[in-house]
Amino acid sequence: MTEEGKIRVLIVDDIVDTRDQLEKLLFFEKDIEVVAKAGNGREAIAMAQQYRPDVVLMDINMPDMDGITATEAIMTQDPGIQVIIMSVQGETDYLRRAMLAGAREFLTKPISADDLYKSIRHVHRLAATRPRASQTPSGGVVSDDDSSQGQIIAVFSPKGGVGVSAVAANLAVALRQQTNARVALVDGNVIFGAQDVILNLVSNRTIIDLTNRIAELDRDLLNDVLAVHTSQVKVLLAPSNPQMGELVTSDHLRSILELMRKEFDYVVVDTHSSFQDRTLAILDTADRVVALMTLEMPCIKNIKLFLEVADLLEYAQEKILLVLNKADSRLGIRVSNVEENIKRKVGLQIANAAQDITLSINQGVPLVMSKPTHAASRDILTLARELASAAKPSAKTNTQPASEQSAQRGGLFSRLMTKR
Ligand SMILES: Nc1ncnc2c1ncn2[C@@H]1O[C@H](COP(=O)(O)OP(=O)(O)OP(=O)(O)O)[C@@H](O)[C@H]1O
Ligand SMILES: [Mg+2]
Repeated sequence: MTEEGKIRVLIVDDIVDTRDQLEKLLFFEKDIEVVAKAGNGREAIAMAQQYRPDVVLMDINMPDMDGITATEAIMTQDPGIQVIIMSVQGETDYLRRAMLAGAREFLTKPISADDLYKSIRHVHRLAATRPRASQTPSGGVVSDDDSSQGQIIAVFSPKGGVGVSAVAANLAVALRQQTNARVALVDGNVIFGAQDVILNLVSNRTIIDLTNRIAELDRDLLNDVLAVHTSQVKVLLAPSNPQMGELVTSDHLRSILELMRKEFDYVVVDTHSSFQDRTLAILDTADRVVALMTLEMPCIKNIKLFLEVADLLEYAQEKILLVLNKADSRLGIRVSNVEENIKRKVGLQIANAAQDITLSINQGVPLVMSKPTHAASRDILTLARELASAAKPSAKTNTQPASEQSAQRGGLFSRLMTKR
């Protein structure tokens, strides 16, 4: 924003009438100011450099240089600029590419005044809440404050098959798309890892390459082992077989996550549905736990038990975000009844994506990339926004001394016994 507090906007469209119409719509908004207009991508890049706008309204199809190429260039030049892509209906492949290029929002033409104002204010708010970042010579992004700590977000369910791995992968990509910050994904299901398949990643480097050299663990070793997904999310894969996974201890996981907290703004962790040491170590270390449930009685029963255990483990209330996955009104159970029963509000719902999400898993392309406008993708993008904009809660268990944390072995039973 300028000193006067206005959101500075650059309009990019090859049609003069569209540019003028958008400018007119914005004219009476007291907190928004159109600082420049461009007729193609090339002009947009030059004007973005000259005027340093907060928000760019970018058309996709333009002669000379299209909106996606221009978005990519602008984001490289200044990752702080928020790009809103404007397109006509049916350009979903373009939208996916635009998202990868770093666009924050999409508006479908014809654009209503209300949607326009909302989107501009939304992306601007998002920029204000995301971690300040600047470019490194290598093109990587680092926080201005080196000592800043990222958020660890564990995705967990006390029932298997609820969609933890699929949601974790999509959430990591969505966080990257929404914030352009440094995002990592850890496959914490070290016995039956799934992220290599879900994200179609081929790499022979896994968490075992870290645990084998745990005494030498540092950022260089970590970077060597992480696989890079096309979304720019860095992924720590699980071992290729269960026997290797058994070698990973809860202490290993704690050390690795603590290092990753320093190297990334967000670390999303896929977990195994259990209360074994390894999973407990992840839940303890996490700042937020996305507790996933479905509208099935066995799952609701387990969620209730999990919430009781979380209380006993003294997890702060705000650490746990209850999320309903595969949400569908035809399942015979009302969300309000569940909330009453478990005495807890469902924070967010992810729509039932039936075949679409399974297809995306089988194709190795997360739904938020292959179908960004799908209802389930939108819900996951909302989840990402919510996690990114919420203040980091102070999780009680994170403040425990390391010595006490390593004593927390022996599963849930001995953990809870020692608390008595
Ligand atoms: N929102 C959704 N709508 C419909 N199906 C979904 C949704 N999310 C996940 N699924 C489906 O649920 C199934 C289980 O997904 P996933 O493997 O991610 O679950 P999980 O909780 O990690 O399972 P596991 O306990 O085996 O690790 C998959 O077939 C996936 O396609
Ligand atoms: Mg899983």
